[in-house]
Amino acid sequence: MTTHKLLLLPGDGIGVEIMREVERIIAILNGKGGANSFETESDLVGGAAIDAHGVAISEGAMEKAGIADAIIFGAVGGPKWDDVPYEIRPEAGLLRLRKDYDLFANLRPAICYPALADASSLKKELVEGLDILILRELTSGTYFGEPKEIVTLENGEKRGVDTTVYTTSEIERIVKVGCDLARKRSGKMHMAAKWNVMKTGVLWRDVTVATHKAYAPDVELELILADNCAMQLIRNPKQFDVVITDNLFGDVLSDEAAMMTGSLGMLPSASLGPPDPKTGRPKALYEPVHGSAPDITGKGLANPIAMIASFAMALRYSFDMTKEADIIEQAIATVLGNGLRTADIMQNGLEKVGTEDMGKAIAAEIEQALG
Ligand code: IPM
Ligand code: MG
Repeated sequence: MTTHKLLLLPGDGIGVEIMREVERIIAILNGKGGANSFETESDLVGGAAIDAHGVAISEGAMEKAGIADAIIFGAVGGPKWDDVPYEIRPEAGLLRLRKDYDLFANLRPAICYPALADASSLKKELVEGLDILILRELTSGTYFGEPKEIVTLENGEKRGVDTTVYTTSEIERIVKVGCDLARKRSGKMHMAAKWNVMKTGVLWRDVTVATHKAYAPDVELELILADNCAMQLIRNPKQFDVVITDNLFGDVLSDEAAMMTGSLGMLPSASLGPPDPKTGRPKALYEPVHGSAPDITGKGLANPIAMIASFAMALRYSFDMTKEADIIEQAIATVLGNGLRTADIMQNGLEKVGTEDMGKAIAAEIEQALG
């Protein structure tokens, strides 16, 4: 039997509530006594860590993250920390995890479950059967480029600066991940950038074309301007399969893709680093794409599906537990098919449930399928 170490970082707001539903599933998997079992540790991140330690992630939590086989992350932030200095803000904890562990490949699959085709803000026929994967570069670009500052000019005016930086190798490695994923899917990949305006966009285009030619000429590659991509996603989303893009465009395009699936509460993500030289496995963090949702925190209303689906991605990408990952994803589809809905995906005539009841229903399906 293999025991995997998980670090659970629920964070703030609804992160805490939805993480409980993942713990419920972990307990079921452990109870079945299969070939894999899980050992969990928890720690604070985001505003909760600021309250306890004065920083958005403590050195102790970073160390635990370093030895964990996978990090399961909830959400960070909330109005309570709106006035803390920029350097300390809750998001800094997440950004440090991404940067220090080099989690450069962020997979954000947007799948429209058949039962939710009506819940999308787009027409049903546009999203029914939708299955796209936004692959976002996560450790460089505008998020981390220097200088990043607000300076006061001689005339007293202020000037804010963010810097978008990419190097050849940073683009190359994400393009290769995109090609690998495209090969396992429909064999089609788009690359979205702004080579008509940005120098980093020119580099993204040139490096993508060269890497694709040398590494995966069998993959069908299309270059698309990022603004056009945003438009095409709304016009005809099913033309896309894998879409690779930079850190900032990826942040925006993945929220857009998420909404097509019915709700931001549905979209999971995996953030993967380079393979570890010893184990061959990438360092990995799994998190829902949605945030901490302060407006509904503590009310038991949050949709736990993106969090649970993120855990399924952990089983798939970190532990090769394909069967269990399939079972979890199927359990989500079944429960939705049975008409259970949290408030964010509620439709007329269906059964409205809270976080815990949704989690329990999915857990029951998993338990049954595991036999
Ligand atoms: C995301 C989030 C984060 C980001 C925030 C919380 C820093 O929006 O993961 O998409 O901007 O990357
Ligand atoms: Mg975002």
